[in-house]
Order: sequence, then C-alpha cells, then structure tokens
Amino acid sequence: MSNDKTNSAWGGRFSEATDAFVQRFTASVEFDQRMYAQDIEGSVAHATMLAKVGVLTEGERDDIIKGLGEIKADIEAGNFEWSIALEDVHMNIEAALTKKIGITGKKLHTGRSRNDQVATDIRLYLRSEIDALSLELTRLQEGLINLAAAQADTIMPGFTHLQTAQPVTFGHHLLAWNEMLERDYARLQDCRKRVNVLPLGAAALAGTTYPIDRHYTAELLGFDAPTENSLDSVSDRDFAIEFNADAAIIMMHLSRFSEELVLWASAQFNFIELPDRFCTGSSIMPQKKNPDVPELVRGKSGRVFGHLFSLLTLMKSQPLAYNKDNQEDKEPLFDTIDTLAGSLRAFADMMPSVSPKKEVMREAALRGFSTATDLADYLVRKGVAFRDSHEVVGSAVGYGVKTGKDLAEMTLEELQQFGSMITEDVFDVLTLEGSVSARDHIGGTAPNQVRAAAKRATEKLAQR
Ligand code: ARG
Repeated sequence: MSNDKTNSAWGGRFSEATDAFVQRFTASVEFDQRMYAQDIEGSVAHATMLAKVGVLTEGERDDIIKGLGEIKADIEAGNFEWSIALEDVHMNIEAALTKKIGITGKKLHTGRSRNDQVATDIRLYLRSEIDALSLELTRLQEGLINLAAAQADTIMPGFTHLQTAQPVTFGHHLLAWNEMLERDYARLQDCRKRVNVLPLGAAALAGTTYPIDRHYTAELLGFDAPTENSLDSVSDRDFAIEFNADAAIIMMHLSRFSEELVLWASAQFNFIELPDRFCTGSSIMPQKKNPDVPELVRGKSGRVFGHLFSLLTLMKSQPLAYNKDNQEDKEPLFDTIDTLAGSLRAFADMMPSVSPKKEVMREAALRGFSTATDLADYLVRKGVAFRDSHEVVGSAVGYGVKTGKDLAEMTLEELQQFGSMITEDVFDVLTLEGSVSARDHIGGTAPNQVRAAAKRATEKLAQR
C-alpha cells in the first residue's frame, strides 16, 4: 500500500516523507528523461521475457506493451508530466503505466531493479549515439577525402616547429587529418563492443530468484550477450569512461584541425577562405571575419576532457556494487555526446567548402628554403656523403639569407660556389613540383600518391 506521506516506491519502510530539498537534490528526472525511449524499449523486452518464462501471462504482457507504447506517444507529443517526486525516468514511466493499466503495471518491475534497468538504458542510449556519431564522423571524412583528392596537386609549405620545412601538397595535409579520424572511428567501433552487453537480470546486485532468460532479453534488445557477473553489471561504468576517452581524443584531433584552420584563415597566413556562413563579424571592427566555428570547437574540447576526468573520479574507489554516486554519470556523458555531435556536425558541414588560396600557399612554400633537403639529396646522388651535403646546403642557405635569395633564385654559378658537382639539372629538384613529386612512395606527398591514398580511403569508407 502506498503511504501518501512517503514515496510510493518504498513507502512501506518509511515513517516520514522525503525532505522537499532532498527530493530535488536526489532526483535525476530532469536529465535522465532523455533516455525515455530506451527505458521503454528495455521494459518491453523485459515484459516479453517474463511472459516467455511464465512469470507474466500473455495478457499482462500485452497490456504492459500497449500501455508503454501509449506513454511513449504521450512523451513524444509533449503530453507527459514528469514529476520530481517520482525521482527518475524509470519511476515516472512505471507510475504512468500503473495509472494507465492498473495493477498489471506494478508487475513490470518483477525480477529487476532500477540498478540493472539504468545500466541497460545507458547502454542502449550510448549504443545508438555511437552509431549516429559514427555516421557523422564518416560524413566528415568523406568531405575531407574529396577535398584532398581535388587538391592533390596544390602545393603548400609543410611545417615542423611551425617553421617552413619542406613543400607538401594540401591534399596530403588533409589526408593526415583523415588518418586521425580513421583511428577515431575504429576506436568508437571497438568501444561499442563493450557497450553492447546486457546488464538486465542482475537486478539490485545479486541476480533474481525468478526463472529469467537473459539470453532471450539480450537478443530482443540487440545486445551481443548478457553480462557475466551481476555485481559488476550494476556497477560497471567503464564503457562510459571508455567512450568519453574516445570522444576526448576526437575532440583533441578536432582542436588540432581547428588551430590550423584559424591560423590559415588569418591575414598573416591567408592560406584558406572559410565560407562566410561559418564565420561571424565584429560589432566594432568592420573588417573582421572571425573563424568562430573552429575556435569554438577548439574551446569545446576542454569540456569533453573535463568530463573524462569527472567520470574517472566518479568511479575512483567506489566499492561494489551500485552506489548512488553512479547517477552522476549521466550529465557528463550526455554533454560529451552533445558536444561531440555538434562539433562533428559543424566540421562535416564546413569541410567541403574550405577553399585554399593556391597562389598564396605556393608563394609561402617558395619562401623559407623549403627545398633545401632536396638539394642535399641531389648532392648525395652526385656522390657526396649526406652529412657533408647537409653542411654544403647549410652554407648555401646562409648565403641566401644574406642576399635575400631562395635556392631556386640563385644562378648556377652562385650555387657552384658551394659545390662544384652542381650542374644545370639542379633546378629540376629545386622546384616545388620536383620536390613533392620526388616523394613518390606509399605515405609520401607526391600528387599521384595522394590521389591513390584518397582512393584507398574512399574504398575503406565504402566498407563501413
Ligand atoms: N536514477 C538512478 C541512477 O541514475 C537510477 C538507479 C537508482 N537506484 C537506486 N538504488 N537508488 O543511477
């Protein structure tokens, strides 16, 4: 019997109602209601299994499933009143079911606990979010790879220490980003395996006395298998931490892309044009076009890293099995999902319209002695030992710094001061095109390698 002074879910043992502030303080419904669809899906599967093993009648099962279906429709139509007094999404939905179908509604919770229920809901929810995020990641990769293939011949300076190092192609640079995302995708798929197991049946912590069929419930919900240990089932949040770690790595990658886009869009670099619709202006400086989207993504990486630490700290030192602490898993996890989804979407939308300013990039690659290594390699081909050729080219660069000339701008006579074996054919290797196309091996920056790499990357995407 429910005592109207106390919560109906546990009123029997209590002699006074929960303090009003404590009720608000301990409630999670404001944020866990976003798992309503998964909560209902889990309950439908649970009721179906209970009927299969004879704990519920088929009629009871059907009433429960019909009632839950109506509740889902009510929630989606905005006709559902969430109550803080009912604490969380699970008890709100169960109470609504009992209101709808009477005493049968109270039988739904047979053989389960909110502890295994919430663990199931989070896994179902995260699984579908991983799938959605994976699609968004794929869309971003498609945009990147297409742009890379189109820019396989576009030359830009490659950097180490943010100093001009050697010429590379813009397509090659973009495919470096794609490699990072390719690993990110694989990490998400790997994480999904550990998300996709069924905790339901662990009940509060020890399992249940009913003749449940966990394999059947797992199958109904599309889980690969039931979990192995009931204590672990209700307390494990590794999967959420692992997902957040994967998300943190993706955000770290996006922050690197962002940083480069911000630099490249600056007047000082002037390498790219970002589409106006992804930028904002300044209310005081009329000339400004700010790269807000990459800046914001760069900034948002911070909160995802923070959530990873929240979750690690949440689980640190927790004794088995379920503890109320675990309710704190949801807000960081949800915010990580939202932040990652938004950042991937912004990047996927923006990437196809990033346009390089080829002339500026080329100009920049011509400055900074970017073909010095090519000259050193040329001397090696003429029989000079690499360490000696490095020395020779160093002197030539020193001369260039003094006279304001790049290597390709020097006359043959000027170059020959540093090495008598230098002949007219040196100018082939000092050109930017000669430099990039000489790096003609798998993983190299030569335009034909970039085109081949882009093709392989596209084929990989098609296999997903
Ligand atoms: N709202 C709770 C959570 O998110 C559900 C589980 C509550 N279990 C309990 N024994 N109080 O963790």
